[in-house]
Amino acid sequence: MPARTSSSTVADVNAAGGPGPLGAGSLTSAAWRHAHLLQLGGLSDAELRTVLFRARQYAGLLREADRVVRPMIGVEQTGSVGPLEAVSSELRGRVIANLFFEDSTRTRVSFTVAARRLGAEVIDLTSVGSSVSKGETVGDTAANVSAMGVDGLVIRHRSSGACHLVVRTLAGDSEAMPERRRDPGRRICSVINAGDGRHEHPTQGLLDIFTLAESFERLGTFDLSGLTVGIVGDVGSSRVARSDIAGMTALGARVICIGPPALAPRSLTALGCEVSHDLDAVLPELDALNVLRIQFERHEVKPGEAKENQPRTASSNIIASVREYAELYAVNAPRVQRMRPHAIVMHPGPINRGVELTAEVADSRRSMVLRQVTHGVAVRMAVMSLCLNAPVS
Ligand code: MLT
Repeated sequence: MPARTSSSTVADVNAAGGPGPLGAGSLTSAAWRHAHLLQLGGLSDAELRTVLFRARQYAGLLREADRVVRPMIGVEQTGSVGPLEAVSSELRGRVIANLFFEDSTRTRVSFTVAARRLGAEVIDLTSVGSSVSKGETVGDTAANVSAMGVDGLVIRHRSSGACHLVVRTLAGDSEAMPERRRDPGRRICSVINAGDGRHEHPTQGLLDIFTLAESFERLGTFDLSGLTVGIVGDVGSSRVARSDIAGMTALGARVICIGPPALAPRSLTALGCEVSHDLDAVLPELDALNVLRIQFERHEVKPGEAKENQPRTASSNIIASVREYAELYAVNAPRVQRMRPHAIVMHPGPINRGVELTAEVADSRRSMVLRQVTHGVAVRMAVMSLCLNAPVS
């Protein structure tokens, strides 16, 4: 992943398919050269804009298709007709495999819809019902699926760095498998990170940025300077937060991570954000507040404390009392009233209503939760199209 560059020039932005003649209709993407998307950390602002401008073009087509096609043919129709016709063959003949070794609703469905919109075939694999349950490593599973001629792997895994490991394995670069060598005649299979442990969730970061830019009329440039974004909750466990911080700060936003010291430690400042333990003090400064779930499944639980076959919503050695947490950090109507009049509330889902976010706020006009989900399709179309069509190096 290349080092971050300084601010992009207008020429970079135009080359990226940004505003101006290229941005109006072209799908040119001169600034994108990566076959994989593993993280937003390390991407330049020009590279981020390349994906976001492409997503903006797809978002326009999807909106148009929704408006024009749906009333004509009914919501059950999934074929690409009308405004989507132009892009429906971009990935025709290509196969995308969803390898989800952790639960997901939004991300998996969204990647599937996005791939199909571009004409790709999609296959689904989970740890249940695959050889992962027999002890196969993620690297071996990925290498086997890739060897069948699959063009893209969308991977979710509970271990941070799992997607990097897969890329190394596919490149024949793994210490574990030194004899494996990539067939030089074959195009490398793209790997797209759909969330790896606490590391990153890059497409969620991109769709959060897209939603922010839309809400503050920055879709023309994706320049987020002047905006202050709070990320409240279990920031330390959150891969979404890491992608948000990397992408939003690269595009000029100020990011403040908020939570009790155990969930929002001062060490997060190394990522380029600020840290506060006092939500009420920070609220009046915010243009946007991204609310995170307490990710109990990523907390260590003492033996005997975990409840068998129950959602992990109460066992943690990090949070002593969910009730006390909610008193100080839950985003509720009185807190939202203290935010700036135009401020928005985001959440990556799944929401634990009544814990980190009240239903009243989740369903209010400030809530961008479903806009985020909608933008996820366009963003993932952009990522898959760019990565699977990246120039072979
Ligand atoms: C994730 O996969 O990290 C989700 O989008 C956020 C969460 O699980 O709370």
